[in-house]
Amino acid sequence: MEENKIFKDVELGIGTWAWGDRLVWNFGQGYSDQDIVETFQISIDNGIRFFDTAEIYGQGRSEQFLGRLLKTCPVPVVLATKFMPYPWRLSPSALPKALKASLARLDLPKVQLYQMHMPIGLLPIKTWINQMAEVYDAGLIEAVGVSNYDLNQTIETEKVLQARGIPLASNQLEYHLLERRIEKNGLMQHCKEAGIKIIAYSPLAMGILSGKYGPENPPSGVRGVQYNKEFLTRIQPLIRAIKKIGLNHDGKTAAQVAINWVICKGALPIPGAKNAGQIEQNVGSAGWKLTEEEVALLDELSDSVTKKD
Ligand SMILES: NC(=O)c1ccc[n+]([C@@H]2O[C@H](COP(=O)([O-])OP(=O)(O)OC[C@H]3O[C@@H](n4cnc5c(N)ncnc54)[C@H](OP(=O)(O)O)[C@@H]3O)[C@@H](O)[C@H]2O)c1
Repeated sequence: MEENKIFKDVELGIGTWAWGDRLVWNFGQGYSDQDIVETFQISIDNGIRFFDTAEIYGQGRSEQFLGRLLKTCPVPVVLATKFMPYPWRLSPSALPKALKASLARLDLPKVQLYQMHMPIGLLPIKTWINQMAEVYDAGLIEAVGVSNYDLNQTIETEKVLQARGIPLASNQLEYHLLERRIEKNGLMQHCKEAGIKIIAYSPLAMGILSGKYGPENPPSGVRGVQYNKEFLTRIQPLIRAIKKIGLNHDGKTAAQVAINWVICKGALPIPGAKNAGQIEQNVGSAGWKLTEEEVALLDELSDSVTKKD
């Protein structure tokens, strides 16, 4: 099956969770409004045309940033946002209401992709997906996506949409060299066969695969819990190999190699970037390919450093 046209020629996107988020990313400490403006500008100048956000990012601040920035943007972009089915959202009308609030923050008449953020909440998947179909039919969104849906939830969504003549465009999933479950549980295979684009979130494992954190300087805050000293020690053989492989490609950085690995697997990476230096590097992740041997070596090392004892 063919992928949705919104993904045509899109090799790399950008995630904007950190744009205004204080809870996880400490917006305002170490990066500011001006950094976001520069990050956006450099993305556009370097051909990035796919922007991922969500109503919850920075409690709406990420969408507001994009709304302001898109006003001066000289080229069309694909804008993807998300609906969070909070447990207190008990009426199906919460979805069109939330979409209208997102569109107001984005200052857009419609978005290209609207995604169910995660399969939580009290209403069944079918109810929310039927609401997705309603806003699609109303012309407020150009494509329907899901995120964090497993194989059964993805198949259920496809059936609900199929009955209304709408394809499922994408499933946004955590996918990177330290998280490869979708390769092994049939979800990636199914999505490929069904023409459902896999949008790979956290392709740098929240910055860890850039190689700048290590056992001696683990990340602070929420990230430091998952990526603690012990974990960072264990993954060093993989980090070393990523850096070495970069040298075979005109000195590509570890971040560029890690993101390129996702591209080689056929998924669409949406790395986050907080400033000009990061986005300048990340745009250099596309337009070239690791060799098959390099991908195989990284797969092998990733398996060995992540296997549970
Ligand atoms: N659907 C979902 O449930 C879900 C969940 C998570 C994310 N997402 C989406 O996926 C996007 C990306 O994921 P993510 O932001 O969690 O993680 P990520 O892309 O793996 O990592 C982004 C972070 O890594 C660091 N970084 C980025 N580029 C770098 C570079 N070249 N060199 C060194 N450090 C670099 C920055 O943080 P520091 O500078 O602080 O290290 C940056 O904020 C999000 O923005 C969001 O759009 C979706």
